[in-house]
Order: sequence, then structure tokens, then C-alpha cells
Amino acid sequence: MRCVWWTLAAGALLCLPGGAGLDNGLARTPPMGWLHWERFMCETDCGKNPSGCISEQLFMQMADMMVSNGWLKAGYRYLCIDDCWLATQRDENNRLQADPTRFPGGIKKLADYVHARGLLLGIYQDVGKATCAGYPGSQGFYELDAQTFADWGIDLLKFDGCNYGTLELLEDGYRRMSIALNRTGRNILYSCEWPLYARRLTKINYTEVAEYCNSWRNFDDIEDSWTSLKYVIDFTASLQGELVAAAGPGGWNDPDMLVIGNFGLSWDQEVTQMALWSIMAAPLLMSNDLRDINPRSKALLQDQEVIAINQDPLGVQGYRLLKIQSFELWEKPLAGGSLAVSVTNRQEIGGARLFPLSRAMLWQGLACKKTCYLTQLLPTRYEYGSFNATFFLQLSVNPSGTVLLRVD
Ligand SMILES: *[C@@H]1O[C@H](CO)[C@@H](O)[C@H](O)[C@H]1NC(C)=O
Ligand SMILES: *[C@@H]1O[C@H](CO)[C@@H](O)[C@H](O)[C@H]1NC(C)=O
Repeated sequence: MRCVWWTLAAGALLCLPGGAGLDNGLARTPPMGWLHWERFMCETDCGKNPSGCISEQLFMQMADMMVSNGWLKAGYRYLCIDDCWLATQRDENNRLQADPTRFPGGIKKLADYVHARGLLLGIYQDVGKATCAGYPGSQGFYELDAQTFADWGIDLLKFDGCNYGTLELLEDGYRRMSIALNRTGRNILYSCEWPLYARRLTKINYTEVAEYCNSWRNFDDIEDSWTSLKYVIDFTASLQGELVAAAGPGGWNDPDMLVIGNFGLSWDQEVTQMALWSIMAAPLLMSNDLRDINPRSKALLQDQEVIAINQDPLGVQGYRLLKIQSFELWEKPLAGGSLAVSVTNRQEIGGARLFPLSRAMLWQGLACKKTCYLTQLLPTRYEYGSFNATFFLQLSVNPSGTVLLRVD
């Protein structure tokens, strides 16, 4: 299903059957997992920082946490390595190799460890001559690297776009790696950053990107701050006409990692990220320290009803309907004519403010023609119960916080 959104009438969303996402059977709903970058970056000094350096030990400990602390059960299945895992040189046969001191067992052994626990392993490479941190890139070696990843048992590739050379090399590289992964015969989810790099140079053809990639980054790296979160949300809304149409089962817009459980967001801001990433049908890739995370953030990240909105099988990306008096109203059509609705209070002074939400503002495709059942999911769960089809609610929303509802 691919949907076209337009601005003439509130909630006007036209969904057409078909539409060509990457046809590899993967990412039928947005991928979920953990990715090291935002929290652990490129720390390579295991002498000074043994528990925070990029090493096999870090990933083995995260794998253990994902299983023992309910993350896998909640749906977080991909454990993903980002940049800085590589040795500074390829081996004598030009094959990639992991840093021998930080990954003494090699990636294959780590993949076995991860698979034995029911998880999947993601890895990172770059379309250009070198990765963003300066390790050997895949340019000139796409087929060989794809085969190496398949041989190791890799399940996801995050393919960055630093040091690409020309636009032609960049785009050609993203296409070639997609084909190379397919030819290995192994199911490897392909997470691209093609539009993020190419949009500086050309107009993005999202139809084509979706034919080659299972997800794609459009905007800069997220950081652990409310400022960064707002940039990503505003950027996505500003391009939503194009982005919403591109998303669907098999291919998703990626607004980057969930930073919930770190240092920079208040509780209300954490709620905003979880609510909007669910509304946006974003990949849910956490970057935090699962060995040390506060219970409230953990419960938010594992909230099954919120995750169900993100993972809804209809696979429609939600969109911003309305921006008024520093409120933002977003909605996401769900399977069976249900709807997720979020209201964010973007006024950063004062206390909670009331937002008047009425049925007439929302998607006209709602299945509840006579009686609608309303449940608030965030910031706390609350059953409003049954309303007639012309319902009206006053929602109280904290500054930089979000109320997330579902209408059935
Ligand atoms: C390779 O592509 C074909 C055709 O699009 C698809 O049917 C097949 O599932 C893909 N295989 C893998 C391993 O991705
Ligand atoms: C975009 O890509 C699709 C699929 O590759 C192609 O059919 C279409 O012609 C392209 N559109 C433009 C404007 O180039």
C-alpha cells in the first residue's frame, strides 16, 4: 500500500494498492532494535573506557540485556553495530576484517552469539571510499563486501554515504549494494542513507529509493536533545507530501534513533519521541545503555500498545494535520479503519494547555460511523470509552509533551 497525502481537505489521504517497495520480504513493518551510534559513538579506547568502547563485549552484553530484560519480547530484534568496528586495513584478499583487539572473536562468532539468543545482527559500512570515521569503505568492493556479510551471518546493513565522490558514484553505489546483497541469497535488511546525502545535489526520486532500500535516512544524525528532536520532526513534516507517499511495507523513512533513556530529554520529551516515531512509522532503533536505563523510560520503550501503532500492518506513515497556536496535531490511519492521533504542545513556557480535539478535524476514513471508542495511550493510559461519532475532547498537554490517542 502506498498513500498520497494532500493538503486541500483535512485528513485527505488516498491509498493506492501496490507500489513497489524493495521486494526481499523484509521490513514489512518498521524494523525494531538497538544501534550503538548515538550513545557510544566512535569510542575505540577500551583501555580507558572498557565498558563504553565499541567491542564485541559491548554487543554481547547488549544481546544479553535484550533477551533478559524483555526487549526482544517487546519486538526489538536487530542488534546493530555502527561505524568504528573495522580494522584500518582490508585483509590480504581484500576482505573486510573487524578490529582484532576489540573484536578478537571476529564478526561471525558474534553473529552466532546473537543468533543463539533469537536476535539478529546488523552491521555498518559506507558507499564511499572510507566510512565517516575514516575506516575502509565499500566503494569498489560492493559484491565482495556483501558476500562477506552474508558469510558472517549478518541480517541488516546500515549503509552510510560519506566520502562518496560524485553523485553518480553515490547513487550507483547504493543500487549496486542492493543488488549485491540480493545475490548473496541471504535475507539482509538494507538500511540506506541515500536521500540524506543526495538531496544536497539533486531532487530525490523516492520511488526509486524505495525500490532498492528497506529504510532510508533523510535528515542529519539525531542527538540527545530536544533541539535535535524538533529539527527531525519539523523536517519530516515539511517534506511529508513526498515522504508519506514513499513509505509502506518493505520501505520506511528513517528519522534516526530513539534516544529515550539517555541524558538530554525530559520525561515529556521522551513521550513526544515515542509517540511521534510511532505515528511516523519510523524504524524503532534505540541508542541507549540497556545495562543502565531508568524504569520509566524502559516502560515507555516497551509499551505494547504504542508499539502496535508503529507496527500497524496497514503500514501507512502518519502526518501532521494541523499546526495552530503552538500545538501540532498528527494522525496515522491504522488497519480496520482505526486511527492514532497525537497532539504536541510546542509552547515552551507555562504549564499544561488545553487542546480542543473534535472528530471533524480527523481522517474521514474512520470506521466508527456511529460510536467511537477512545483510548489515551500516552503520557498515561486512560480509557475515555465510547463517544458518538461527533466526539469532542479537551486534551491537556504539557509543554514539549505529547498526548497519544487511539480511536477505534
Ligand atoms: C532478490 O530479489 C528477488 C526479486 O526482487 C526477490 O524475489 C528475492 O526474494 C530477493 N532475494 C533476497 C535474498 O533478497
Ligand atoms: C523515478 O523512479 C522510477 C522507478 O525507478 C521511474 O519509473 C520514474 O521514471 C522516476 N521518475 C523520475 C521523475 O525520474
